[in-house]
Amino acid sequence: MQSRSELPLPDDSALAHSNCVADLVRARLAASHGRISFADYMDLVLYAPGLGYYCAGMQKFGPAGDFVTAPGLGRVFARCLARVVGDALDQLGGGVVLEVGGGTGALAADLLEALRARPPRQYLLLELSADLRERQRARLAAQVPGLLDRVQWLDRLPASPLTGVLIANEVLDALPVERFTMQDGKPLQLGVCLRDGKFAWSAMEAPAALAAEVRAIEEDIGAALPEGYSSEICLRQPAWLGALAGVLGRGLALFTDYGYSRREYYHPQRTAGTLACHYRHHWHADPFFLPGLQDITAWVDFSAAARAATAAGLGIAAYTTQAHFLLATGILQEMETDLAQNQGQSPGQIQAKAAELRQLLMPGEMGERFKLLALTRDFAPVSELTMRDMQAGL
Ligand SMILES: C[S@@+](CC[C@H](N)C(=O)[O-])C[C@H]1O[C@@H](n2cnc3c(N)ncnc32)[C@H](O)[C@@H]1O
Repeated sequence: MQSRSELPLPDDSALAHSNCVADLVRARLAASHGRISFADYMDLVLYAPGLGYYCAGMQKFGPAGDFVTAPGLGRVFARCLARVVGDALDQLGGGVVLEVGGGTGALAADLLEALRARPPRQYLLLELSADLRERQRARLAAQVPGLLDRVQWLDRLPASPLTGVLIANEVLDALPVERFTMQDGKPLQLGVCLRDGKFAWSAMEAPAALAAEVRAIEEDIGAALPEGYSSEICLRQPAWLGALAGVLGRGLALFTDYGYSRREYYHPQRTAGTLACHYRHHWHADPFFLPGLQDITAWVDFSAAARAATAAGLGIAAYTTQAHFLLATGILQEMETDLAQNQGQSPGQIQAKAAELRQLLMPGEMGERFKLLALTRDFAPVSELTMRDMQAGL
């Protein structure tokens, strides 16, 4: 994690953009008696139409952006996923894919390319950001023009349930979270205010829903959270997942993200929570740094996600690490096939593929920090989803 003074400075136009986002937050603060919840702050700076981090035109993904996700590393993540998706669609006798939060469109394009011989009836992309929708369209038109007529963009969930596969890679971590801190045995909500003209934390008594969830966490982990302990809770996650679950009439839902079971997430030693900001490949903990120019995320409480899914009537097919998922779904065979089919690759190209494997599989990279939660409705996948199921720890 880096300190604020070590972070690179933006150019004038990016700075002007950030000032507009900050003005928007100031206006919201002025209209809300000078204080808003952190979830509302996160919502504004990430998703305000045309201005928020995900909704303005800046480069976010890849080496020239702020962070890299698994589909941006290369094609092998999508190919492994395609094996599971293709098998599920075959088993279901056909169906649709609904990808939520498609980012650059890399996963959609690589999945459709890998599924060319057995494509889904439709590939639906639910995306909040108009800018990202355009980037996804351009990527798909360039990579899989023959399948573009199967792709449809949605700005809300479909009205009726579908048969098929839902996918969301690194979307749960992008949902706005509440922050809290423990004082005298009680949770205080950490909201946002202005202090000396700058955005700052403002602690006050936690609203009932937040306080109740902190108590539920303490019951689940069997201990009171210690004095001064700060962390975050995604209060929106149950409703969000419940709505998504309602769309799955029959089939499989795959969520991949960085996260923990509840016991690991709220471990008494994790005293400062998991909130993280990503800015030009620097990782730091200050969400008030250059609003609108950086990503803000929190790790996913997968126990809460599993609970919300089962409350919505879904079954859990697997909870595992990304490495165990990718190994079970043939990542090594995919790499071998790639090497065999492309024998003229330069040492540089082979090194890049080795780096991709390392990043996807190694425990210190995405291999263990990232998890897969596979959910089902009226469906039992034939595909092997993991070499080590961790559902018992949820
Ligand atoms: C960290 S990016 C991940 C992008 C992509 N899945 C990947 O792996 O590269 C988060 C994505 O989720 C989208 N997103 C966030 N909240 C969403 C919501 N409530 N509904 C749909 N998309 C959402 C963002 O616009 C963005 O495309």
